[in-house]
Amino acid sequence: MKMFLVKNYEELSRKAAGILAAQVISKPNSILGLATGSTPLGTYANLVEWCKNGDVDFSNVTTFNLDEYAGLSEENDQSYRYFMNTNLFDQINIDKAKTHVPNGKAADLTAEGLQYDQMIREHGGIDIQLLGIGHSGHIGFNEPDDVFVGSTHPVTLVEQTIQANARFFGSIDKVPTMAITMGMTSIMQAKKVLLIANGQDKKEIVEKAFYGPITPKVPASILQLHPDCTVICSW
Ligand code: F6R
Repeated sequence: MKMFLVKNYEELSRKAAGILAAQVISKPNSILGLATGSTPLGTYANLVEWCKNGDVDFSNVTTFNLDEYAGLSEENDQSYRYFMNTNLFDQINIDKAKTHVPNGKAADLTAEGLQYDQMIREHGGIDIQLLGIGHSGHIGFNEPDDVFVGSTHPVTLVEQTIQANARFFGSIDKVPTMAITMGMTSIMQAKKVLLIANGQDKKEIVEKAFYGPITPKVPASILQLHPDCTVICSW
């Protein structure tokens, strides 16, 4: 594992974007695993700028996002599909047909998850997976549990996550309580993993995840076993 403590959010965003851009430049048909949330916003802003300048070409890139809220359609401005379109896909030269977000409106989220994993496998797996980390230690929406769940699957969000995400919904009652998330198999099989964490409030969970015991009670701790994991933090 490589752990970088950088001086601020701008530096974190530039460094993370640099790693993703280098991936796309060295392999133009890369399969990127992407995340939503506040942390990657600066990373995506850099990628947009570099694409507009002609420095990075996304025309052959395929993406798979980590997760989606259950029951939200892609037109809902709180859905993760909407987030990705607005903050990245609509601003770069990617073929939208090659961008994938789990379908939170699927009638059977378990079946949707298995199909999603199948699609990732058919693409040969993920080249680099971008991750944030929740206060609960979640990656994607893999919340603390008794076991690490492998497949993409439906989850019930923990109270801490619902509270953290209430800021986007205006009120806590509007936050969906269920989601669908990529599981640990696709994440751990990604050739590279890049986790970004910003803010003093993430310090404790990052230390637990990367220097504490490997346990499904701290889902991100599984990344200690990943052969090529980079962590960039700014507090
Ligand atoms: C988002 C995701 C989540 C977030 C995490 C941190 O797709 O999978 O695991 O990365 O909740 O969110 P922020 O960046 O908002 O602190």
